[in-house]
Amino acid sequence: MALLYDILAVVADHKIASSLVIAFTSLAAWIVYNRVFSPLANIPGPFSASISRYWITKQSWTDDFHRTMIRLHEEHGNLVRTAPNEVSVADLKAIKKIYGAGTKFQKSDWYSVWQGRRKFDLFAGRDEAIHGQHRRLVSRAYSMEALKDLEPYVNESVGLFMRKMEERQGKAVDMGKWVQLFAFDIIGEITFSKSFGFMEMGADDGSFRAIEDALQSASWVGQVPWLFWLHDYLQPVIGNHLALTARNGSLRQSTLRETEARKDRGSDRKDMLSKLFAVHKEKPLQFDYSDLVSMASSNIFAGSDTTAISTRAIIYYVLKNPEVKRKLVAEIDDFRRQGRLSDPVTLAEADSMPYLQAVMYEALRMHPAAGMTLPRVVPPGGTEIEGTYIPAGTVVGVNPWVVHRNKQVYGHDPESFRPERWMEKGSEDMHRFFFAFGSGARTCIGRNISWMEMSKLIPTLFLRYDLQLVDPEAEWSESCRWFVIQKGLHTILSHRH
Ligand code: HEM
Repeated sequence: MALLYDILAVVADHKIASSLVIAFTSLAAWIVYNRVFSPLANIPGPFSASISRYWITKQSWTDDFHRTMIRLHEEHGNLVRTAPNEVSVADLKAIKKIYGAGTKFQKSDWYSVWQGRRKFDLFAGRDEAIHGQHRRLVSRAYSMEALKDLEPYVNESVGLFMRKMEERQGKAVDMGKWVQLFAFDIIGEITFSKSFGFMEMGADDGSFRAIEDALQSASWVGQVPWLFWLHDYLQPVIGNHLALTARNGSLRQSTLRETEARKDRGSDRKDMLSKLFAVHKEKPLQFDYSDLVSMASSNIFAGSDTTAISTRAIIYYVLKNPEVKRKLVAEIDDFRRQGRLSDPVTLAEADSMPYLQAVMYEALRMHPAAGMTLPRVVPPGGTEIEGTYIPAGTVVGVNPWVVHRNKQVYGHDPESFRPERWMEKGSEDMHRFFFAFGSGARTCIGRNISWMEMSKLIPTLFLRYDLQLVDPEAEWSESCRWFVIQKGLHTILSHRH
């Protein structure tokens, strides 16, 4: 150090030299601590990840973060250090520990940027006790029982989608875009009994861009949440520079317009909004009007892109695998011949089609919507994963893309699209570790709703049309914005019957 000081003192004055030596020594101590003395020091991973959050923040900007994590786990095993204080986990036994019912592992600060200043946020709220109360308040609106009321709304959107496809028959259709228009309109239908009108227009009103930008900005700024709060504090002076705020801004405003109209008018509809208003009426203190608006706008944010991404995955993988397409269409035709298929296909009918169900599971296994870990904080007392002690306060998480490629669970060929695996013996474990909707206490509350939407749309579409890829050789592109968004699913439809 004395030598370093002497050298610096030659080129700068003594004050600057002392500051530089202190800075250099602190940096060296930080690196040595993280590489040698930290309890996470023995967990492998990229060098730069072990000494700063720069690596994970930068990765959250890249398109292929999900693929990077698959590669890193293949290289290093079940534990990969992704930041000085963060570990990506692929150990199957740890999943229950981290996410299971009654877990003490709370959502990490990454979610705080999603929540912002909302007080009711089922998705991003981090206090498990409060979350439990909130979830109990609204769960009836998302239950299997509620699905019966919602199915007629889904029929409306499926019917409109088919009419729009009819107009485009024989022409190239950007199916990736159309399923997104569908997913938005349908979530509007089931939430407010009012679609956004996107399918009618054949375009959106800018919401797609707003959500994609919000996702992009949340995925990286969530890695350094202090920056979000600094931005929040300075916003009155510097203005808004984070697209993420759309979740609590423009999307909330458009939800508010619908809830205001309903508040005055009332309704005899059986949509989500009427179910949420019923909760509000019964328990106005626990679930006030602003909570109701938050919950309804969460539906739009959480339930539109995710459903679009998953529907795209089903169609893409079916079309990329002609034998799968042949078997799916054969099952549809079989059911139709036996008089067991309506048009649009009902939820009950779709549930009884084993190959369709296997195709859907396999597509969501290959391409789960979330491409980053679902991060949680190790509770007081620390934990042990794979024989490694992980101290309290460390952020740990499982990445759906990684767990869905676990050979112990999904067999020797996890990169192949093979729906049959879901129909073979041993598929109970595949269901147990299926992570597309998260896991345990914070599992997706809209899972049944989205499953209903997709399982009605897909067989109805393949019943009516033969679908071909415009370019069967072309691959689509994937961009990880926390959700892994695909571009490039172009198809041509022709009548089957
Ligand atoms: C295929 C479509 C969908 C996928 C892949 C999906 C995926 C997920 C995932 C992975 C989580 C857990 C997030 C975490 O632990 O951080 C989640 C939670 C959530 N989802 Fe979904 N989702 C879908 C559809 C929907 C729909 C249609 C709605 C609303 C109608 C919805 C509303 C929510 C909410 C409110 C949460 C937070 C639940 C809680 O923490 O209690 N999702 N979703």
